[in-house]
Amino acid sequence: MATDASRDIDDLMAENRKFPPPKDFVKNTLVAGTFLYDEANEDYESFWARQAAELVSWDTPWDTICEWNLPFAKWFVGGKLNVSYNCLDRHVLAGNGDRKAILWEGEPGDTRVLTYAELLDEVCKFANALKSLGVERGDRVNIYLPMIPEAAVAMLACARIGAAHSVVFGGFSAQALADRINDASAKVLITADGGYRRGEVFPLKPQADEAVANTTSIEHVVVVKRGGNAVSMTPGRDHWYHDLMSGASNDCPAEPMDSEQLLFLLYTSGTTGKPKGIMHTTGGYLTHVTYTHKYVFDLHPEKDVYWCTADVGWVTGHSYIVYGPLANGATQVMYEGVPNFPANDRIWSIVEKYKVSIFYTAPTAIRTYMKWGIEEPAKHDLSSLRLLGSVGEPINPEAWIWYQENIGGGRCPIVDTWWQTETGGIMISPLPGATTTKPGSATFPIPGVHAEVVNDAGEPITHGGGYLTLTHPWPGMLRGIWGDPQRYKDTYWSTYEGKYFAGDGAKLDADGYLWLLGRVDDVMNVSGHRISTTEVESALVSHPSVAEAAVVGAKDDQTGQAIIAYVTLRGGATVDETDLRNHVAKEIGAIAKPKAVYFTPDLPKTRSGKIMRRLLRDVAEGRNLGDTTTLADQSVVAELQARAADHSED
Ligand code: PRX
Repeated sequence: MATDASRDIDDLMAENRKFPPPKDFVKNTLVAGTFLYDEANEDYESFWARQAAELVSWDTPWDTICEWNLPFAKWFVGGKLNVSYNCLDRHVLAGNGDRKAILWEGEPGDTRVLTYAELLDEVCKFANALKSLGVERGDRVNIYLPMIPEAAVAMLACARIGAAHSVVFGGFSAQALADRINDASAKVLITADGGYRRGEVFPLKPQADEAVANTTSIEHVVVVKRGGNAVSMTPGRDHWYHDLMSGASNDCPAEPMDSEQLLFLLYTSGTTGKPKGIMHTTGGYLTHVTYTHKYVFDLHPEKDVYWCTADVGWVTGHSYIVYGPLANGATQVMYEGVPNFPANDRIWSIVEKYKVSIFYTAPTAIRTYMKWGIEEPAKHDLSSLRLLGSVGEPINPEAWIWYQENIGGGRCPIVDTWWQTETGGIMISPLPGATTTKPGSATFPIPGVHAEVVNDAGEPITHGGGYLTLTHPWPGMLRGIWGDPQRYKDTYWSTYEGKYFAGDGAKLDADGYLWLLGRVDDVMNVSGHRISTTEVESALVSHPSVAEAAVVGAKDDQTGQAIIAYVTLRGGATVDETDLRNHVAKEIGAIAKPKAVYFTPDLPKTRSGKIMRRLLRDVAEGRNLGDTTTLADQSVVAELQARAADHSED
């Protein structure tokens, strides 16, 4: 345990359950044993080069695998390729044009199926439409769409002609969209009239209009008809997607792009401050996402039906809905709406209907399903599933077990994948046929990736709590922050010399397994002990009545900070505050016992589902709330404030 002087994070929780890869799974797995790790350890650059040569088609081979001028990397330098060719043309040329690429389901229940040949046709036409609007290689195009196939079409069409896309999640406001358009100086905006959410049409075009009014760079707006809601079209500037497509030729040869050509910008806001335009380029990124999608998800493209529940507006949607799966020729489900429309079993009805075999979702979703109860998945035949994935936050061990038992039927390995918008692709994860997992641990860096947990002084540690760093360049890494190289250096490369600092706490257990401990900004300091939010939350979630928990450190005269917990119960469950506080003390120690526990039906989350602990700190310390624009549901915090006020009057 840490001494008072130490700034390292305490290691409080021990989790010893182990899950070796199931025998039936191993029979047909792509990677059993350690051969990929062994090869990568020998020479990681050559290892990545082999992946690039095997998994990606190049027009011109590269001269240099990696040029590393810390902190700036270039991969496969001199190589030329086209990402949309890799995701589409080559599958059609190989005779797989009839393979289903996208099995799309709209929220109201309408469906569309696009084969690889159809998707290619659509992308070629739309690439020509973009050209007709003056889009050229090197331009930026903004995309603000619901979860409809046109989102993938638009991204691939940009890639085909060498324009960089900047996708903005459809739930963001007009102001957020305008800020991102302005930062990127985008020329064209692609949006829709509206999309479906919770049974209603949410309008996008009016927000897009408001955003464009606050920008100077947009010359044209393309509007996909989806919601059927009334919209106003500005003549000369606005064009219906279907009108452009009806006049467009499907002949649009993929142009070879430089390996380091900008493929996309994706803005990430972090917790505060001006959003950062994270830059991803072509050859290295495609290699990284194709390789990880194949091996982490053990993809058998001719058999599997893959489903990632993310939105294309997040990096998970970029890397593991669009680029990785399509480059691998996968068949995937894409779903437009929310998980509880028309009822709480919608996700499981989709798994049953399409016989999904690989399912990739976020811990926040899993904990929500826990809250809704096991009756929901039990209504459906989920026997098609053979592999489950998790991403976005630490998955609490009990949520992992719940997922494994109630969704995976005890037979599916779980890959807990740690990565970031900045890393481009998965960095730390089990390989499902090779790695013995422990619930809640992302296990080990994947072959080709080098991670170290360091102490406050930046020295590597082999056991206990510290900070996650990456020590070698990797192909999918961000190439910088758009327009701000200094911020790139300061944010990621200045905390620990020569190492990329991810901003996450992490610990290594006695077997060398990695456990993510949450963002370091959230670490609590109680009587000189640095306690991770993740461990206390996991202790709370291990109580059979608890579905979800968020803890924060609030100022305390005695202990510096005191732990305040916000807890959501599983459907129908009850428990009292003292029992829960004692439960935490029993699980991980008295030092981590929350001072107060508030029960709440919901927790404040960002639009991508991460718990906003900063807001909970404001509530706990009775402060006025700062910026709440990234909050998904504004009413949650008001309710928590009311409860906090009630509690203090108790
Ligand atoms: O804190 C880590 C958490 O999500 C952060 C990255 O967020 P974002 O850029 O939005 O990308 C999310 C999708 C990749 C990380 O710094 N995170 C992501 N995956 C995990 C995780 N924390 C623990 N375990 C994970 N598997």
